[in-house]
Amino acid sequence: MSAANELLAQIAEIRERALSAISAVGDSGALETIRVRELGRKAALPQLLRHVAELDPAARGQVGAAANAARNEIETALAGRATALQSVELDARLAADRVDLTLPGAPALAVGRLNLLTITAREIEDIFVGLGYRIAEGPDVETVYYNFDALNTLPTHPSRQWSDTFYVSDEVVLRTHTSPVQVRAMESSPPPLYVICPGRTFRRDSDATHTPQFHQMEGLAVDEEITLGDLQGTLLAFAQAMFGDERRVQLRPHFFPFTEPSVEVDVSCFQCVDGYLADGSRCNICRGEGWLEILGAGIVDPNVFEAVRAHGYDPERIQGFAFGMGIERIGMLKHGLLDLRLFYENDVRILEQFS
Ligand code: PHE
Repeated sequence: MSAANELLAQIAEIRERALSAISAVGDSGALETIRVRELGRKAALPQLLRHVAELDPAARGQVGAAANAARNEIETALAGRATALQSVELDARLAADRVDLTLPGAPALAVGRLNLLTITAREIEDIFVGLGYRIAEGPDVETVYYNFDALNTLPTHPSRQWSDTFYVSDEVVLRTHTSPVQVRAMESSPPPLYVICPGRTFRRDSDATHTPQFHQMEGLAVDEEITLGDLQGTLLAFAQAMFGDERRVQLRPHFFPFTEPSVEVDVSCFQCVDGYLADGSRCNICRGEGWLEILGAGIVDPNVFEAVRAHGYDPERIQGFAFGMGIERIGMLKHGLLDLRLFYENDVRILEQFS
């Protein structure tokens, strides 16, 4: 075989091998390997072309043309295959990456919520603001004057003892109730006055129903011709808004130094009828009483007005009623909590139950 014929045969063989490899290849990476192997600098076809120069001039044209034709064919096949593989691979990638828009999103971030104490305080505030009251506040650290003296509390009253009250000094205490805000509110605004006063209070007490720090909501209404009936009607409206339309209230005689007469106020139990459940068992909320004590109240003692007479409070001309309730107690009753300390332990399992 002449040298030219041998080269032609090699060209044909290279072409054959390259084209069948190209048509069989399954991915772009392998196709690139074939391109380098068949057309790269060190590949057989380009190497072979170097020998064309050694041929008879008459044979050079034929071999050169065959080599170029083979090269073109291989390049065309590579390009065609590359396009086909790219589209197959794109389809595969799209199928693999498909986003299912119907899947649930990433879990929502936990959102904080108000503590039951805050929820309860705001509920009480909303009810009284709806009745025309405004909110007044006073300091947690209070003078003996506002906490006791101005509230007609005698020096011998048991609540003044160091065993009941946190004294900061002889004249300064952590307030034992929100009632001192009554006096401060009257000092800063003349009658008529309708205020509620939420806030922290402190007593030396600690068990399932008492914590050394707790919260009260004070109420004070001062106007002309205020009666105990107004107090009862106001508290009935409050009890029904807080515990349900069917609620009734009852007043029982009591004693507070700053009200006369003084009462304790009960609301009819919202879980039972007269202390017993439908199945005949004793109600666990009111313990069979049918009534729940919710607050202390009364008609403002004239001696309290005497302390603020200079601010426009003439006990001959005006009257008032006042009440004070434990915010925790209201929340416990409403939600059936048995231990006051749950308000402060911040156990997420408890907190999450209220919103
Ligand atoms: N301050 C009283 C207490 O803490 C409650 C009260 C407030 C009673 C207003 C009468 C009038 O027990």
